[in-house]
Amino acid sequence: MNPLVLGLETSCDETAAALVRLRADGSAEILADVVWSQVEAHAPYRGVVPEIAARAHVEKVDLAVAAALEQAGLGPQAIEAVAATAGPGLIGGVMVGLTAGKAIALARGVPFVAVNHLEGHALSPRLAAPAPFPYLLFLASGGHCQFLAVRGLGDYVRLGSTIDDAAGEAFDKTARVLGLGFPGGPYVEQAARSGDPTRFDLPRPLKGRPGCDLSFAGLKTAVARTAEGLGALSEQDVSDLAASFQAAVADVCADRAAAAMAAYEALGCEGPLFVMAGGVAANTALRARLEAVAAQAGYAFLAPPQRFCTDNAAMIALAGALRLGAGLASDLAAPAKARWPLDEIAAAGRPTHVPGRKGAKA
Ligand code: KG4
Ligand code: ZN
Repeated sequence: MNPLVLGLETSCDETAAALVRLRADGSAEILADVVWSQVEAHAPYRGVVPEIAARAHVEKVDLAVAAALEQAGLGPQAIEAVAATAGPGLIGGVMVGLTAGKAIALARGVPFVAVNHLEGHALSPRLAAPAPFPYLLFLASGGHCQFLAVRGLGDYVRLGSTIDDAAGEAFDKTARVLGLGFPGGPYVEQAARSGDPTRFDLPRPLKGRPGCDLSFAGLKTAVARTAEGLGALSEQDVSDLAASFQAAVADVCADRAAAAMAAYEALGCEGPLFVMAGGVAANTALRARLEAVAAQAGYAFLAPPQRFCTDNAAMIALAGALRLGAGLASDLAAPAKARWPLDEIAAAGRPTHVPGRKGAKA
């Protein structure tokens, strides 16, 4: 039987622990999935404060492991391997989870795997459905926004990425301008439901340009200017601006996704499967739009259930389980990394600026 893997995730503002075992058919059995958000601790600052995050992880990480074991009805002796996020992310938080994971692996005498958080997102659809390699991945969250050809475990080719802000960051900043809560994505999506997406003519950065890079900074600024121009915002203004913003994001993502498909095919990848993952993949309107783009191009579409789109430890445990299966256990000396591009080779040749609430990630 495959080992029961404890996964730990502490790279941003969620303290998460999960217990996952790979079934013989390759699917994931999730025995426990604990995600404790720190959102209330950061809410007064309308963004994630690294020091507050790191301290909260220290206070909670062991309790999250205990809660996961309790959820599964198991004792610590059931842990047969440990996988922890080793980056990219807020370094203080990453160090907490990584160190806790190493300590548990050492105490239990079981293998340890240092997992790239982005690889967790990249493999996350497999928590719920078979996702045979290769596939084209649109990874969109608060700290990263990129198209990747996922050719196999550990074999990722970056096709394009944001040249400024991540999509989730644009949602967060739009929510801020509109006086909505943090993190902004779900609030903007909710407000957009009762809004008119055609009321404001917002820019569609990089739409129609060669390549499949993305850009959201200009759109974010346009939202801020429009809001300023309106003065005191009525509830309808907020809804209309949220809807207009979301429509612009959808247009940009749809256009760039079609371009990414061409790049994916140019690479010789033959799997017509389009996967969307990361926190922004929780957006129902965006999912529907990208599903339509995929269908038009003859691609199957897959996105993880919403709870696996945002940060969680089940995806880290799964990545760890798959790595262990491939004989890729890590050394206990594996370092924490604030930056750790998934596609190290492409990133070295083409560094991409990704600022944001989590700092430069990938
Ligand atoms: O993957 P995630 O939990 O953390 C990162 O690794 O970045 O993604 C969080 C991001 C936030 O920017 C949040 O606003 C966005 O995902 N998000 C959404 C939605 N739910 C979360 N964006 C748009 N629509 C949503 N429903
Ligand atoms: Zn994430």
